[in-house]
Amino acid sequence: MLLFTFFFFFLMSYQLSTWGQQLPPGSMGLPLIGETLYYIRSMKTSKPTFMADHRKKFGDIFKTKLMGTLCIIMTKPDFIKWVLAHDGKEIITGYPKSFKNVIGGDSTLNSVGARWKSARKFLVNSLRTERLRTRVSVVEDLILECLDSWQNKDPVNVREETKSLAFNAIAQILLGSRLQSGPINDALRKDFFLMCEGLFAIPIKLPGTKFSNALQARARIIEKLERDVVSKPQPENDEDYYADYMEHMRQESLPGTTEEKLLEETRCHMLGTMLAGHETAACTMLFAVKYISEHPNVLAELQAEHEGIIRACKIGGGESRLNWDDYRKMHFTQHVISETLRLCNPISLAWRQAVEDISFHGYVVPKGWKVVCALREVHHDPAYYENPEQFNPWRHDNESDNRANKPPFLAFGGGPRYCPGADLARLEISLFLHHLVTKYDWELCGGDKASYFPLPKLSKGLQIHVHKRVLVD
Ligand code: HEM
Repeated sequence: MLLFTFFFFFLMSYQLSTWGQQLPPGSMGLPLIGETLYYIRSMKTSKPTFMADHRKKFGDIFKTKLMGTLCIIMTKPDFIKWVLAHDGKEIITGYPKSFKNVIGGDSTLNSVGARWKSARKFLVNSLRTERLRTRVSVVEDLILECLDSWQNKDPVNVREETKSLAFNAIAQILLGSRLQSGPINDALRKDFFLMCEGLFAIPIKLPGTKFSNALQARARIIEKLERDVVSKPQPENDEDYYADYMEHMRQESLPGTTEEKLLEETRCHMLGTMLAGHETAACTMLFAVKYISEHPNVLAELQAEHEGIIRACKIGGGESRLNWDDYRKMHFTQHVISETLRLCNPISLAWRQAVEDISFHGYVVPKGWKVVCALREVHHDPAYYENPEQFNPWRHDNESDNRANKPPFLAFGGGPRYCPGADLARLEISLFLHHLVTKYDWELCGGDKASYFPLPKLSKGLQIHVHKRVLVD
């Protein structure tokens, strides 16, 4: 009887709102958790097939239950682009509860309406090209420091190195020199990792769960940032994203703004930007090194491009340091980055929520349901990418100039929430690859297995033996 009642309420929970309208086909899995374990288990293998299996059974749009919520999954680029473009209309941001709690409801990715627009204005302005131009040397200094230290390490753990590099880069961009390498920086990085692990965990606050660990890590990060970093005097010409953001939001004078709300918003915004700004770039650098190591022809073309840039600098009597114009010459490097992102998509799903019943391609997307865009799936679809599992940067070279014929590329999302850090990420990864392929030869130690949840990972962190290269003029 108890089981029957439970099952009845479970069925009613997603049937009532859509009575008489047709939901997409699909499978709702187990009570409460739905297909969450099936999805996570699949993403933790080196060849995730959850999405492809469901598409075979149900088509390009299907229903399921993930992370405890009712979802309509979109796997076709046109559907996804429509959903992302309608953000703020009949669809709003809809990340799962654990994600909201861990990063904070007031972070950019979780906020909506006027507050999101104001936060977004600040972000886009802070990360615009003219500003990035002036940060090239800051990012390059960090890369040189990191790569120089490799001479004393054998083997080098690429995961650890790229994580600390990407963290230092975002820390310098947002907070300037007040968060340089050292114990505070190390402790913060570790806590950001714990936060990341809890983003899509089951939201149960019991000691030792990933969710609880993430919330505790979040509290420690805020405490350390405020006590040991932003309260320190700000060196002249240094960045202070924390104070600037708070002042920007104060100036916007949005209804309901109190000092308490401003502080909470600033914390959430800071945590969200720091997290989004380093874990994604770090795993892209990591997988780029893996793919390049496995493809000597890619390495040779990259080396040719970057040695060419160095030679051009010398002939022109220029400095040995890179500038924005050098970065703009790294065409093949951009294809390598796009191809790495295509294969290992740091953000596999973009989460939205319907604010009203939506009729979509003959189906109803009921109010309150999550609308989940399967970004990763698009990049692995043979309909758009020939031999999709093959690492082939040249495929981005062949892209037609005609926009309509371009294969869909959604690694940075789309619509009004398109990643505001995309240019910074590309800059960082390009400069890293420049110095890596011109300064070192390396061999893989091997034995790594890839997995993709919550972010792409390699089981041993990609260990390599490095040897200093000598550049011949
Ligand atoms: C390879 C690196 C990166 C990838 C693949 C990536 C991917 C994405 C994607 C797919 C979204 C859209 C999510 C959605 O629509 O739900 C997004 C949003 C966002 N990204 Fe990135 N990102 C990267 C680097 C960065 C960096 C370096 C920063 C910060 C400096 C950053 C900050 C953000 C923020 C704040 C948002 C939310 C924007 C909004 O809600 O308006 N990302 N990113």
